[in-house]
Amino acid sequence: MHSRFPHIFTPLKIRNMEMRNRIAISGHHAGWWIQDGMPSDEFAAYIEERAKGGVGLFVIGCTSPKPGSGWLENVSDAVIPRYQMCVDAAHRHGTPLVAQLCHPGLWPSRGIPLTLPVPSAKGIQPVPRHPAGKKEYTTAELEDMVESFGIAAGRCAAGGVDGVELHSHEWFLHSSILNPMWNVRTDKYGGSLENRMRFMVETLTAMRNAVGPDLVVGVRLKADDMEQRGNDADEMAKVIASLEAQKLVDYVLLTGGDARLHHGPMPRAENEWLPIVAEHKAKTTLPIFHAGRIMTAESAELALAEGAMDVVVMTKAHIAEPHFVKKVFENRMEDIRYCTRCLQGCHGKMELMSCVYNPLTSRELEWASTPAASVKKKIVIVGGGPAGCEAALTAAGRGHEVIVLERGTELGGQVLTGSNSPTRKPWRNIAEFYQRQAAKGVFQVRLQTEATAETVLAENPDAVIIATGSAPNRFCTGSRTTTTVHEAIEGALDHAKRVLILDREGFMRPWVVADRLTALGIEVVFVTPLLKLSPQAEGWTLDELLRTVGGYTVEGKDVSVPNPAHPEKRPPMTFQVGFEVGSWLEDNTVILRDVQRGTEITVSDIDGIVAAVGSSSVNDLADNLRGKVPELHVIGDAVAPANVENATYQGARLGREI
Ligand SMILES: Cc1cc2nc3c(=O)[nH]c(=O)nc-3n(C[C@H](O)[C@H](O)[C@H](O)COP(=O)(O)O)c2cc1C
Ligand code: SF4
Repeated sequence: MHSRFPHIFTPLKIRNMEMRNRIAISGHHAGWWIQDGMPSDEFAAYIEERAKGGVGLFVIGCTSPKPGSGWLENVSDAVIPRYQMCVDAAHRHGTPLVAQLCHPGLWPSRGIPLTLPVPSAKGIQPVPRHPAGKKEYTTAELEDMVESFGIAAGRCAAGGVDGVELHSHEWFLHSSILNPMWNVRTDKYGGSLENRMRFMVETLTAMRNAVGPDLVVGVRLKADDMEQRGNDADEMAKVIASLEAQKLVDYVLLTGGDARLHHGPMPRAENEWLPIVAEHKAKTTLPIFHAGRIMTAESAELALAEGAMDVVVMTKAHIAEPHFVKKVFENRMEDIRYCTRCLQGCHGKMELMSCVYNPLTSRELEWASTPAASVKKKIVIVGGGPAGCEAALTAAGRGHEVIVLERGTELGGQVLTGSNSPTRKPWRNIAEFYQRQAAKGVFQVRLQTEATAETVLAENPDAVIIATGSAPNRFCTGSRTTTTVHEAIEGALDHAKRVLILDREGFMRPWVVADRLTALGIEVVFVTPLLKLSPQAEGWTLDELLRTVGGYTVEGKDVSVPNPAHPEKRPPMTFQVGFEVGSWLEDNTVILRDVQRGTEITVSDIDGIVAAVGSSSVNDLADNLRGKVPELHVIGDAVAPANVENATYQGARLGREI
């Protein structure tokens, strides 16, 4: 028995599937895991890395039994050897593998309140979820669909999986047929709960018949639909009870609501749905799994100890840290890259999914083994931001002697600025990971050290890496001084009453400012010349920011699912999308110009303007060292200002090659 995490390290057997611990990775999806519609070699390597890392179960994500989904597809026997490849990758290291089946359905609009109500230059519109040419399925088409799920499950079994899982979650086909908000059918699949469940029941029956009695059949359901109010927790309890009575499933994987509510962007609380999951668990004897931003071993252990669930799903935790379970088992918490719930590198990039600060993620095939350096070098890295730190970690891991010179009081660079507002605290996880690694002695650090050519040369390095980052540009409007995003985040406008944020970047920095200011009760007018609000921001994060930070309402009513992490009421932000700042007059009036029509409007009482107008690289030191050291490299924002993922990728790439 594990002394610190006894519940996590208690095995679980479901039918013939043996889990060595209670941590699972639920289905998730990335474009570059798909080759000819089927699992790619890259995906098998991704699975294998997590199996090596000790996870108790891996579920292959959305796989459609019909062509045309754009996801993984299980539409011919060609998929069988591809499943076999994934199974072998998982089994080699003792992890069972379950294959999820799902059909996207019609992608219905989610009803009121609409999610992603992003103000745009064209007004507020529901997100179109009815791709052209899609239609309501006929009864016969649904019956055919049931058969396809059965055939697909049979292929999963032929590929050697330990189980199959039906996805009835989000707004995909099974979930939309279960929910009376979306299902207005009058045939045997519409109307009463029994009728709305029929499609799921028939599908699960077909899947069970196809896989036989030894394999596990699971289902993924919402604990409560949260927003549509069609399948609330009471109705979902009835669904679970019915599935249990009919002996149709061996486990139920529960998630809270749709979209942002279950993906759990940073502004929402960790472990948010535990109480509702615990209520479901108390009403059934079926093993309950739960995926919902459980990010630490301590929370997982507590959830299991309190009997809230049988298996803790930690998916993003494993996107960021493939060896999470192994490190927990070995009590090596300082080596864990804890997920920040930024959703930026994973869900936000779906097709090229990775992690903002684990460049190994999705590059396992190429990068999983790091060759030791053939020639050991002394490397001086200037700048302890994400680029410099990742380079330091990777190079030190290969046997080089690495010294990081950082002028600040702690490692982290711009991550420290980016985490300096109420909803952004988890972003600090990135800095703290590198700080723990330095404290452990993986690489050396000299803090509060302003590097010059002389101090660098005095170290007599074999190689120098310049990772000195970038500085934000200042926006000029007439004679009045505007504030940079960094100055505002550090408190320069904390005394203001009404601030205008100009965003020409379309990403996260202005939101960190808005978060800080609205939390202080300061009114914010958000102006962007872009024709869409924050197009580079991850969608669910933006959706939640609009509510938590922006005080978003529909016709004056707060329609948000309350966010217990940030219950404070903030002044609603106003948005001017498609406008540029003209001038800021002495009486605090700002003239805005419509970028398409050239017409002007004014906003009054603006006592501060913060402008997110790009950054400029800081790399003078590289010029001073060129030709004076055997090897000189410049990485991250010091080359071209971009984002953390770009910085850590460049750091890792150089660290592997140097
Ligand atoms: C990139 C990405 C893709 C996902 N794709 C799927 C999927 O195919 N099927 C599924 O059931 N859930 C999918 N999910 C949701 C996860 O299974 C999980 O419910 C979610 O990440 C919340 O759990 P966590 O907080 O432990 O990460 C996806 C999540 C991410 C981040
Ligand atoms: S990209 Fe962000 S949310 Fe995704 S795994 Fe990495 S830290 Fe977590």
